[in-house]
Amino acid sequence: MAIITVISNKGGVGKTSFAISAGYYLSKKSGRETLLMELDSSPGDFGPIFDIDSKRSLEMAVRFPANFSNYIKKIDDNLFALKGFPGPFLAEGSVSEGIKNLISTIESRYGNIIIDTQTVFNRVLLDVCIMASKIFLVTDNCLESLSRVINLYEMLTLTHAIEKSRVNLIVNKKRLTDYFRVWDLSKLTEVPVEGFISYDRKFNKNLFISSKNKLINTKMYRQVGRIIENGFNS
Ligand SMILES: Nc1ncnc2c1ncn2[C@@H]1O[C@H](COP(=O)(O)OP(=O)(O)OP(=O)(O)O)[C@@H](O)[C@H]1O
Ligand SMILES: [Mg+2]
Repeated sequence: MAIITVISNKGGVGKTSFAISAGYYLSKKSGRETLLMELDSSPGDFGPIFDIDSKRSLEMAVRFPANFSNYIKKIDDNLFALKGFPGPFLAEGSVSEGIKNLISTIESRYGNIIIDTQTVFNRVLLDVCIMASKIFLVTDNCLESLSRVINLYEMLTLTHAIEKSRVNLIVNKKRLTDYFRVWDLSKLTEVPVEGFISYDRKFNKNLFISSKNKLINTKMYRQVGRIIENGFNS
């Protein structure tokens, strides 16, 4: 059983793309039931991408954890999705306790739970990072984004004592022509880069709606798959 969280304090870097690609990959490769859980209420993308109505959401699942299966949607063989809160929620102790309680109620039913999160880092996100066996911290290949996520890395590992080995830095949207070489910076800050994902002209989040076969043939999907394999072997 693995709980994986995908985080970044920078928007639009590919958290959702990474989380959903990882969900498809793990549900196929591990052959075990995999749950994609959305912790983004900004609002998130699961509603439109997976065509989930607002009644089936994390809010209801947190309220009625025993009836949890009423609120998830099967989206592929072995792959299920739970949409986030329909609107902004108070990121306070009670919500956080509710989510932790839900995860402990359901974790034995799934081989993998992959949690897609929002850009604003709060108590709820910290709590799921503490529960996770793997945390993928995503940045795109620019200095501003990288320095932000390095701050988050330091906050997680220094202030909150999350083991460095659990936090995997992923650089997404890397182009061959990029002047900025991220590994130079990672040498300076000593934050190891666990994986690169190329900018992929053929990739678009809408592929999750329209064509699973096209998705599986993207470079993005293959590279996420490789990162997940390495993450589990290390
Ligand atoms: N490797 C890639 N190559 C090309 N486009 C990409 C790649 N990764 C993500 N994208 C595109 O970048 C945009 C943002 O991706 P995504 O929504 O996954 O980011 P996010 O971090 O979840 O954003 P948000 O902060 O809004 O939740 C989408 O249009 C997606 O299709
Ligand atoms: Mg997102």
